Amino acid sequence: MASKMTPFLFRSCLRAASRVARPQPRALSISACRASDSLMVHRNTADNNPDIPFRFNKENETVIAEILKRYPEQYKKAAVMPLLDLGQRQHGFTSISVMNEVARLLEMPPMRVYEVASFYTMYNRSPVGKFFVQACTTTPCQLGGCGSDVIVKAIKEHLGIKQGETTPDGLFTFIEVECLGACVNAPMIQINDDYYEDLTPETVVDLLKALKANGGDASAAAKVPKAGPLTGRQTCENSKGQTNLLDEPWGAEKTRSDL
Ligand code: FES
Repeated sequence: MASKMTPFLFRSCLRAASRVARPQPRALSISACRASDSLMVHRNTADNNPDIPFRFNKENETVIAEILKRYPEQYKKAAVMPLLDLGQRQHGFTSISVMNEVARLLEMPPMRVYEVASFYTMYNRSPVGKFFVQACTTTPCQLGGCGSDVIVKAIKEHLGIKQGETTPDGLFTFIEVECLGACVNAPMIQINDDYYEDLTPETVVDLLKALKANGGDASAAAKVPKAGPLTGRQTCENSKGQTNLLDEPWGAEKTRSDL
């Protein structure tokens, strides 16, 4: 009997052993942990607390009335983003009072407005300088031209501030951002609503100097370069001029000489 059971027991043991969960070591790769630049919660401060009153000015009230016409009355909360943007432009940043006023106008729970404002990084929830300098450091800007690393270094050294800081005179705030969609003119930065492209460390420092001269002291007006490429290109055309499509375009007489 024992000799008949032996193969059965042996196979059962083998089967049971094969079912035991075995560790499956896997290579785990993680990207470097980088603390967020901005706080995702609100803390009351002297210049950002709900007791500071905020109301849209007359001009913006007219704009808001126009914006609200785009949406049916019951969906007016869809206007939360343009209204937050207007509030930021008027107040300088998206303070808690701006968010509360937008919530009041759109009859939304304030938390819903906070969620939108804290999700989109273009809403600055703390004060920024008069010139908000955003340097693109995504791969095409890192590789294009002289590369964004030297541009960032030049900005930091010239302004004497680090990422996320504002100069003591309140003129400049500097941050690094991801692709701004002008990769073909890399490296580039955005200052307020304007893009400055095809930069070199020298041109970016000249630009900051000109902005400071104009923004800090009106009597010392310096010529601020026109927004766009600072190398003389109009847009993103080849800087070496036209190199293809130089022949006369084929016409009907070439392809159909019989006609
Ligand atoms: S990578 Fe800089 S604009 Fe796209």
